[in-house]
This record gives sequence, structure tokens and C-alpha cells, in this order.
Amino acid sequence: MKALVLSGGSGTRLRPFSYSMPKQLIPVANTPVLVHVLRNIRELGITEIGVVVGDRAPEIEAVVGDGSRFGASVTYLRQDAPRGLAHTVAVARDFLGDDDFVMYLGDIMLPDGIVAAADEFAARRPAAQVVVHKVADPRAFGVVELGTDGEVQRLVEKPEDPRSDLALCGVYFFTSAVHEAVAAIPPSPRGELEITDAVQWLVTAGADVRAHLYDGYWKDTGRVEDVLECNRHLLGRLDRLVSGHVDAESELIGEVVVEPGARIVRSRITGPVIVGAGSIVQDSQLGPYTSVGRDCVVTGSRLADSIALDGASVTGIAGLRHSLIGRSASVGAVTEEGDHVRLVVGDHTRVEVAA
Ligand code: DAU
Repeated sequence: MKALVLSGGSGTRLRPFSYSMPKQLIPVANTPVLVHVLRNIRELGITEIGVVVGDRAPEIEAVVGDGSRFGASVTYLRQDAPRGLAHTVAVARDFLGDDDFVMYLGDIMLPDGIVAAADEFAARRPAAQVVVHKVADPRAFGVVELGTDGEVQRLVEKPEDPRSDLALCGVYFFTSAVHEAVAAIPPSPRGELEITDAVQWLVTAGADVRAHLYDGYWKDTGRVEDVLECNRHLLGRLDRLVSGHVDAESELIGEVVVEPGARIVRSRITGPVIVGAGSIVQDSQLGPYTSVGRDCVVTGSRLADSIALDGASVTGIAGLRHSLIGRSASVGAVTEEGDHVRLVVGDHTRVEVAA
């Protein structure tokens, strides 16, 4: 079995971040979403992984490399433009051969893993098996209708009026039967080759198409709010580990990770919180639910329920929360009166708010 990981696309919903960083590399609990994805795939024992990349290929390759650090061999598959999820299967045709494979979107988080889904696929080996999750409002997703025996009867991409509450999670198991489907479907009204249409084609052709119900935590990290919520969820599973330096005037409460080379000076950290390697937190209050990347500086500030990416600095801000601060961005204070502030700041941006 092989894996096909989708890391192309344009990521317009995560702007301004996606202007300077592919959305698959946004860190959740200080680890890029794509790395969480690759770990889930390795958990299945898969070692041959094809990663579909677009314009942002160099950045993706810098993080994933040849896959050896995950114990896998990674082949990069270049997609000239985001022409749809099914188009990536066509791009990967030679890499996939006639092997079974799991297709996994590079921007979704399933921290409870997909081992049960993979076992179910291996046991029955249907032509296709989609992974679904119950959601309150499935209109932003592919929606699946099941028959009485759990067989997939109908799939609709982002319906205005969904006929079920089962959303496609972004993980699909296929046999080589999918290639005929991908070759047969026309582009959708939005001009993309939809994997939803390819799976529907298999259903219509009478193939065995099943759904696995994933009932763990699931998040599509397409929007900033989703990234922050997912960060909260993952930090909720954190175990205390202090490798960096914490001075005598600082206090760590609860699950706090201080990575090697990080320094906590005259500060109060209320977990769950991660402070990345080489970062300095001084005269500040951090947490709960906050991830600070590598080589960041937080001085004289209060930061909660937020993510600061590598190299960011926050200085003199008394109430920053629900914020996502980009790589090497600097957030500083001006002297007027201010209350809680919320920021979504792109990489290398400079923002000044009332202190
Ligand atoms: O999150 C689950 C949803 O993912 C499913 O419910 C939908 O059925 C499915 O179509 C998909 O919808 P999205 O609108 O969220 O897909 P998005 O355009 O965000 O692309 C998903 C990932 O695939 C993302 O990492 C970018 C990558 N991608 C996307 C396209 C269109 C590619 O690598 N190439 C592409 O051509």
C-alpha cells in the first residue's frame, strides 16, 4: 500500500498566511500540519509516500526532505495548477502503479489516527473507502449518504442542502479501480476534477464503496479559527517537559513544555503551553493554550490562546489572545489605553496596538 499526500493548492482561505507560507506548513502545537499527516501515515506501516506539490514545492521539500526522518521514502509529484483532488491522482498515476493507496489531504488533522479505517479497508478491500465524520453543518464539505448496510449511495460536494450529517474527512482508501473513474469524470462547475465525483462514478458503476466513521477529533485547518481550535485541542494532550532554562522568579503551572535553549525569565506560564527552542519569554504571562515557535521573543506581554510562529516577537502587549502571529512578525505597543486585542498577522508584518 502506498500513500498520496496532497500539499498543492492555493489556500486562499488562510490568507494572509498562505501568501508567504503553504497552509500545510502551519504549525499546530509547534509541528506543521503536514508532519502530523505524515506521522499518521507512517503509523499504518506505509513507507512509499507521494507528496503532490504546486508552486510552494521548495518550502514543502525543505520541511519533509526525502522522508527518511519519518522512516519513509518521499516522491514529489508536481501539479502544474490546483486542478482538483482527482487531478492529483492522475498526476500520480505512474507513482501509484496498480497498488492500493490512501489519499490524504495535507491540511487536515486527525490526531486520533486512521489505523482503524486502514484495518477496515484491508479486511474488506472495497474499490473505495471514504472516511467520514459527523458534523453539525456539513455544507462546507463533501457529504455522503449511506444505505442501510453502510454502503455509500451518494456523494455531493459542498451541497447547499445536505441530506446527511456525514462529511468527507479528506482521507480516502482506493484500489486501482479509481484510475478508470478519474479518467472518466468531467471537470465540475468550479473547473476542478473532484475526487467526490470520481467516487460517485464508482458507486454508479456498481463498485463496492464503503464509508468508515471516524469519531475522534477532526479538523480541516482551512481557516485561522480552525488552526487555533486545533492548537487548543492538541495542547490539551501535552505532557510537561522542561528542557530549557526557567529562572527562580518564574512559575510554571500545569502542562508546560520548554524546549532546549528556551529561557523563561520573571514570567508566569499557565499550561498547556509550548515554548519553542531558542525562544525567550521575559516579564510576561503566557497561556493557557499557547504555542510559541522557535527563536521568538515575548517581553512584558500577556499572550493566551494563540500561536506565534518562528522568529516572532511580542513586546509590551497586555492582552493578546486568539491570535496567530506570523514568522518573524513583530507586534509592539504604542502608549494609548487599550483592552484585549485580536490579531491575524502575516509573516514579516509589523503591527502596533494600544498598550
Ligand atoms: O476537508 C475535507 C474536505 O476536503 C472534503 O470534505 C471535501 O469533499 C474535499 O473536496 C476537500 O475540500 P476542500 O475545499 O477543503 O479542499 P481544498 O481545496 O482545501 O484542498 C484540500 C487539500 O488538497 C489542500 O491541502 C490542498 C490540496 N490540493 C487541492 C487541490 C484543489 C492539491 O494538492 N491540489 C489541488 O488541485
